[in-house]
Amino acid sequence: MSLREQRDFLVQFLFRPAGVGAVAPSSRHLAQAMVEWIDWSELRVVVEYGPGTGAFTADILARLPAEARFFALEINPTFCEALHRRFPELRIYRQSVQEVDQVCQQEGVSQVDAVLCGLPWAAFSHREQVAYLDAMFRVLRPGGQFVTFAYLQGLVLPAGRRFRRRLDEYFSTVESSRTVWRNLPPAIVYRCRR
Ligand SMILES: C[S@@+](CC[C@H](N)C(=O)[O-])C[C@H]1O[C@@H](n2cnc3c(N)ncnc32)[C@H](O)[C@@H]1O
Repeated sequence: MSLREQRDFLVQFLFRPAGVGAVAPSSRHLAQAMVEWIDWSELRVVVEYGPGTGAFTADILARLPAEARFFALEINPTFCEALHRRFPELRIYRQSVQEVDQVCQQEGVSQVDAVLCGLPWAAFSHREQVAYLDAMFRVLRPGGQFVTFAYLQGLVLPAGRRFRRRLDEYFSTVESSRTVWRNLPPAIVYRCRR
């Protein structure tokens, strides 16, 4: 992660604190915790939600099976430009995750096997959480994998607790990782199967 990308991230947080939800990109330790649980062998279509400046993207690309399709949805135009610079081959849609089914149509896929997600769930309203999860369930196949993270301080906020309960309502299994202390701020990873 270059200094320029770190600066871009902080500036975007100052402009859009709720949408960005963090002052710095995730660490390589959190990226590792995000990708290590995924069963990569069964994946044909993988989507990244909210890649920001690409903290998880390189780890995803390194593990992606050769025949798998991969694309990302990132709503912030500055981050989309940074991603294009860093990963010129990556298919990036400057759209909300609420429109994931339209993006899948454009990609010519009807089902997704895994979603790796960097969205700031604890910063979202009840309506946003439900709208984004409902949209994902229009494309995530039964048995599909979903991995996302939560900052420690967000776990005690009403929206963070609501999101945790919501995961149990939507998914058949939900596991939490150990705390990843080497991240700003420290975080845990939720590992879910539909
Ligand atoms: C906490 S940052 C995480 C960025 C990156 N994954 C990381 O871990 O460093 C949240 C990201 O989600 C993006 N985002 C927020 N709401 C979104 C939405 N509705 N659709 C797509 N991306 C969104 C933000 O622009 C930002 O890049």
